Amino acid sequence: MFDQVNQIPALSFTPAVARETAPLYEKVKRVVNELDWASYAPYILEINRLKKEMGAVVLAHNYMTPEIFHCVSDFAGDSLQLAQQAAKTDSQLIVQAGVHFMAETSKILSPEKTVLIPDMKAGCSLATSITAADVRLLRQKFPGVPIVTYVNTSADVKAESDICCTSSNALKIVESFESDTILMIPDQFLARNIAKQTKKKILTWQGSCEVHERFTANDIIKFRKAYPGAVVLAHPECPPEVCAEADFSGSTKAMADYVTDKQPKKVVLITECSMSDNISANNPNVEFLRPCNLCPHMKRITLPKILQSLQTRTTEVYVDPAIGILAKRAVDRMLEASK
Ligand code: 13P
Ligand code: SF4
Repeated sequence: MFDQVNQIPALSFTPAVARETAPLYEKVKRVVNELDWASYAPYILEINRLKKEMGAVVLAHNYMTPEIFHCVSDFAGDSLQLAQQAAKTDSQLIVQAGVHFMAETSKILSPEKTVLIPDMKAGCSLATSITAADVRLLRQKFPGVPIVTYVNTSADVKAESDICCTSSNALKIVESFESDTILMIPDQFLARNIAKQTKKKILTWQGSCEVHERFTANDIIKFRKAYPGAVVLAHPECPPEVCAEADFSGSTKAMADYVTDKQPKKVVLITECSMSDNISANNPNVEFLRPCNLCPHMKRITLPKILQSLQTRTTEVYVDPAIGILAKRAVDRMLEASK
């Protein structure tokens, strides 16, 4: 039998598989029903066996579905944490459970390692919004203005940049420059959210995240009326008027930490849908209300594709070494500044 979607042999949920994966099911049973678990468990078992045999690690972003996030990842976190982890792992084989720019960042940081992405088409609307030629034109137009580039970009774009940033260190990175004007590219909303927190003049680009740009301030106002007392957390890729309506705005890690530390009774995460599932699995006393948007790119990564990626050692991420050296300089500067 074949898995029709992924065209790889389907695996069966036998009593032995059920027994061996039972401790993992305990971790996710609040957010994964038994029927779905029966289709996930054989893949989880085989992925974990193969990972061990091959000495591979799976680095998973917070937007991965719970069966990936909680059951096959060796490390899970936000973009900054994944980059830090890629830089320090001893493993020579990394499977990136996330989108292409994340896998490329791992390869930039560890050019000697093999980095696999289970689906090459897992892109990002921010990464496709700007090219290296665009950055060169910006440099010509704004000579001497530091260029701070979001990690959600290609290696080519990073190579043209002074430093990278993520949503968890953007303010710190902007403030680290003496210049009173900074180019923050390509996310116009992240840039405008940071501009509200600094005296520096922030110039930006017209890029945006197709998932977060769809939330409106009105969504939050209506939601607060329907669920009085709910705490609202928003990712800084949302438009500024959305973040202004929220109680807190921060990276995916910052949102997860907020819920874990403060244990609000009811919470709304204005971000990608899997975030609530992943945090909910560990926070049984918090009620998660779910207006959320799916990232179609993140959702391309599935258990069958992770298994296939390990079995066939595909698809390997390639970065031109000359570009990689320049891109690494920008990412290393960010990692240094984030310490
Ligand atoms: P974080 O760095 O907050 O995990 O965000 C990455 C991302 O792609 C959000 O859309
Ligand atoms: Fe890109 Fe937005 Fe998806 Fe994050 S959620 S990977 S920024 S499209």
